[in-house]
Amino acid sequence: CGIVGVTGRSDATEILISGLEKLEYRGYDSAGIYLNNAHKEDHLVKTQGKIADLKAKLTPEIKGTTGIGHTRWATNGAPSVKNAHPQFSTDERFYLVHNGVIENYEELKAQYLSDVRLVSQTDTEVVVQLVDHFVIQDQMTTQQAFEKTISLLKGSSYAFLLMDREDPETLYVAKNKSPLLIGLGKDFNVVCSDALAMLNVTKDFLELHDGEMVVVTPKTVKITNQSGQRVERKAFHVDLDPKAADRGAYPYYMLKEIDEQPAVLHRIQETYLQDSGIPVLDQEMLNAMAKADRIYIVGAGTSYHAGLVGQTLFEKLAQVPTQAVLASEFAYTDPILSKHPFFIFLTQSGETADSRQVLVRVNEEWQAPSLTITNVENSTLYREASYQLLLQAGPEIAVASTKAYTAQIAVEAVVAKALGTRKQVPAADAFDLQHELSLAANAIQAIVDDKAQIKTVAHKDLATTRNAFYIGRGVDYFVALEAALKLKEISYIQAEGFASGELKHGTIALIEDQTPVIALITQARTASHTRGNIQEVQSRGAQVLTIVSENLAKTSDQLVIPSISELLMPLISVVPAQLLAYYASLERGYNVDQPRNLAKSVTVE
Ligand code: G6P
Repeated sequence: CGIVGVTGRSDATEILISGLEKLEYRGYDSAGIYLNNAHKEDHLVKTQGKIADLKAKLTPEIKGTTGIGHTRWATNGAPSVKNAHPQFSTDERFYLVHNGVIENYEELKAQYLSDVRLVSQTDTEVVVQLVDHFVIQDQMTTQQAFEKTISLLKGSSYAFLLMDREDPETLYVAKNKSPLLIGLGKDFNVVCSDALAMLNVTKDFLELHDGEMVVVTPKTVKITNQSGQRVERKAFHVDLDPKAADRGAYPYYMLKEIDEQPAVLHRIQETYLQDSGIPVLDQEMLNAMAKADRIYIVGAGTSYHAGLVGQTLFEKLAQVPTQAVLASEFAYTDPILSKHPFFIFLTQSGETADSRQVLVRVNEEWQAPSLTITNVENSTLYREASYQLLLQAGPEIAVASTKAYTAQIAVEAVVAKALGTRKQVPAADAFDLQHELSLAANAIQAIVDDKAQIKTVAHKDLATTRNAFYIGRGVDYFVALEAALKLKEISYIQAEGFASGELKHGTIALIEDQTPVIALITQARTASHTRGNIQEVQSRGAQVLTIVSENLAKTSDQLVIPSISELLMPLISVVPAQLLAYYASLERGYNVDQPRNLAKSVTVE
C-alpha cells in the first residue's frame, strides 16, 4: 500500500522507517525493508503487523545507504511475513516492493518459472523471480531484465522499486496506474508513493506517468517512457508543512479532523469566494460546464456520498440534471450518456483506481470535459482531468473520511453556485453561499464544542449493539448513507442508511426490541413524513435517536443542531454522526484511525 526508497543517505534506515510511519494511515497488514551499503552488505527485515513490530526487529547493525520499504495491504496472499515485501529472488540478489495487481502472473509463472520454487503466494514474487531469470538465464543487464519483465505485465497496475545486490546504489523504478513520485535531494534521492512520506527530507518531487521507468542513483534520475525515449521533467514543489500531518495533542487523527471542519470551510471561502460572495473560478471551466446537458459525479465510498449531495446542489442551484455514480460500477457498464456530458470526479486522495478507470474512459472513449475535486495536488486524477479544484482540507490521515466529505460538499456548492450564476438561474443568485458557509462553520463549531453529549449517547446506545440504522429523506437520506458508513468503518457495527419511506417496504423487518434507529430531520417538506416513519419503528421496539435542525425540532428530540439553508444541512448533520461513530469505536475498544481491513487510498480495482 505504501512504498518508500532512498539512495545516498547514511541514515537510510531512519528515512525508510519514518517514511513508512507517515504512510501508516493508509492501512496495511505487514511491512518490510531491505537495505544495502555501498559494499554489498545487506539486510532484509519483514514483519506481519505494524511498523512498531518492524522497529522492534531492528538492531544497530541494520544500516545501509540505499534501501526500499513497503507497507502491504493484502491482495494476493494472506498477510504474513512470507508474503510481506520486499519479495526477493531465490539467489537473494534482487529485492522488490510493489503496489498494484499483476493480472497475468499465473501465466508468467507457468511460462518462465516452472523450475523455480516460490516461497510466497504473491504476484510480486513472480516479478522479482522473472527479473532474476532474465539476468541469469539470458545474461541481460538488470535494467534490460527489468524492462523485459515489465513488457510482459500487460494491463497490470504497478508501482515497483527494485534493488540489485550487485549494484547497491541504484533504485530501479517503474509505474503504471499506481502512484509513485521521485523526491530530489542534494547527493541523494528518494522514491515514495505519497509525498507525505518524504516531506522531512525534501519538498521537490518529480511526477511519473504510466508506463515510465526510472533509474535512480544518489546523483542522477533517468526517466524513460514506454518507447524507451528519455523524458525530461520539471520538479514540482510541495508546499505543505510536514506538521500539518501531525496529530498534536489529539488521541486520534479522526477527532482532530472532525474538529478542523470549521477551519476547512473558512479556507474554502477564502480560496473560492470573493468578499462579495461571488465565486472565483476558472471561466473556461464554467463555459465548458455551461454547455453540459448532464453532469455525472463520479466517486467511491465517502466521496460517492458527497456526490449524492452534489446532485441536489447542481440541480437546485444550476438546474442541470445531475447523477452521482459509483466509480467501480460506472467503469464497466455501457451508460447511454447524454449528448453533452460533463464529469466531476470527487476523490480525497486523487488516486482511487476505480475512479481513475472512469476518467480513462472519459478521456479516451467519451472525450468529454472533466473536473477533478481532490485534496491532493498533482495526484493522478488531478493531473488527468481537464480542470481541477483543491479541497483545501489539509492532509486527511484517519482512514474514515470526515473533513474531506464536508469540504467536497462545500466545493460542490461553490461550483454549483458559480454555474447557476453564469446561467442566470434565480435560485443561484438568491443563494448567499458566503453567509451560509459562515453559518455552517459556526454550527459545526458548536457541535464539536459540545462533544460530551454525543459521547453519552454513543455509550448508551452503541456500546454493545449488533446493528444500527440511519434513516432520512432527500439529502437526509444521503447523509444517512454516509453516517452508516462511518459507523461500519470504525465501530464494526452493522449499520445501514435507509430512505425512511422505504422502511415499510421491507427493511422494517430488521427492527427488533432496542435496535438503534437514528433519524435525520433537516428538510421541512418531509419532516412530518419521517416523523411518521419514526413512529412505525418505535412501535416495533426501536430505540430512536433524532438529529434534527433547530427550526424543525420538538421537545422530544435528542440532538438538535443549528439550522441553515436546507441545501447545506448535510454539512452540519453529518458531524454528530461522525462523532457518534468515533465514540462508538472508542467504546468498543478499536483503533479509530486504522480500522481493520481498510486502506485510505485504494489503488487497485
Ligand atoms: C477508500 C477509503 C474511503 C474512501 C474511498 C474513496 O475506500 O477507505 O474512506 O471514501 O477510498 O477514496 P477517495 O480518495 O477517492 O475519496
